[in-house]
Amino acid sequence: MGQEAASYDAIVLGAGGAGLMCAAVAGQRGRRVLLLDHAEAPGKKILISGGGRCNFTNLGAVPERYLSANPHFARSALARYTAADFLALVEKHGIAWHEKTLGQLFCDGSARQVVEMLLAECAAGRVDLRLGQPVEVEHGDGRFRVRHGARSYDAPALVIATGGPSIPKLGATGFAYDLARRFDLKVVEPRPALVPLTLSGEEALFTSLSGVSAEVVASAGKTAFREAALFTHRGLSGPAILQVSSYWRHGEPIAIDFLPDAAPGWLRTTKRAEPRSGLRTQLARRLPERLAEALAARLELAGELANLPDRKLEEAERRLSGWRFVPSGTEGFAKAEVTVGGIATAGLSSQTMEARAMPGLYAIGEAVDVTGWLGGYNFQWAWASGWAAGQAL
Ligand code: FDA
Repeated sequence: MGQEAASYDAIVLGAGGAGLMCAAVAGQRGRRVLLLDHAEAPGKKILISGGGRCNFTNLGAVPERYLSANPHFARSALARYTAADFLALVEKHGIAWHEKTLGQLFCDGSARQVVEMLLAECAAGRVDLRLGQPVEVEHGDGRFRVRHGARSYDAPALVIATGGPSIPKLGATGFAYDLARRFDLKVVEPRPALVPLTLSGEEALFTSLSGVSAEVVASAGKTAFREAALFTHRGLSGPAILQVSSYWRHGEPIAIDFLPDAAPGWLRTTKRAEPRSGLRTQLARRLPERLAEALAARLELAGELANLPDRKLEEAERRLSGWRFVPSGTEGFAKAEVTVGGIATAGLSSQTMEARAMPGLYAIGEAVDVTGWLGGYNFQWAWASGWAAGQAL
């Protein structure tokens, strides 16, 4: 790289949630830290998260709510830096917050407060933050040399915090994986997650229900979520669908229970109580009108319940509680909130996030093969893994 490089104790690549936390923690421990990003502004995903209010953590952030090839990897960091720890930081900065549902904590005001809080923590740790230039990395003699635009820097430690490829228009790239591979770290196949599913063929009939939503239980394999599902012009979205999308693989079915509160045998019981009513009327009492109409049409059971054999009603109940279909795909990284997969945890220490075979190299946040559920879990992983590396640098 030629020119004289300014030296630091650590260089953190990526000023998202994980990189900001890591840099602040290491800086406040007295390390000289440089935080670099190619974007013009830090924390862009934080700013748009949670509809602009940032769902910054979840009170139930246990390792079981994360996907990874090694489900135990996240345990240590999540136990050492908890949702309560992040909440204490939020309160120290006087940010008002509320619990929305299912343990999800949001700012009362704006996600910008979270970015400002992290920048203030970085300033308290005298972190040098430089933005808006592409990054190149070289390694030799136990030091990392990083070019950022026209300037060069070097340090004995480098933290990969450049996230995953979800939402490229926000500056997301697969840079973390390319860099990791260069240092012989393995990468678990990255897939879009927390992403809408698309429908085609026979199932595309449902796209006529665009805008309709209902509380359902959606499941992929053994994993099920009870939340809202939303029909879109391309397929299905809404929290229940986003959640199962992380567990879904191409070619596999998704099942939806449209009537999670209906008792077994409800249609046959209703037939005795209201023999003159029809299936569509009964469904419309429990589901949005347009959905009830579409499901009744698909079940092809016209006429009064009294004239329908119990066997047919039993079959209808079974289908309504386990409507199976195979999505044609997902809306891809352009619409995915996160990426499943990433830098393989097998090559990293779960205590420090340092690469086992490359001392001084660390990986944190979404770049790593740890992906949380919808609802503040992904930020909690960004904070916890960033904190763990920040303590170790
Ligand atoms: P993040 O992606 O935040 O940061 C990576 C940084 O690296 C970026 O600043 C980027 O510019 C930089 N970078 C990338 N490539 C680079 C390169 N080649 N050179 C230099 N810099 C580079 N989670 C949650 O818990 N609660 C929520 O409410 C939401 N909401 C939400 C909404 C939307 C629309 C999205 C897309 C995502 C969410 N998420 C979320 C997920 C959450 O945003 C995500 O998990 C974290 O931001 C990951 O933090 P990281 O710091 O690891 O990566």
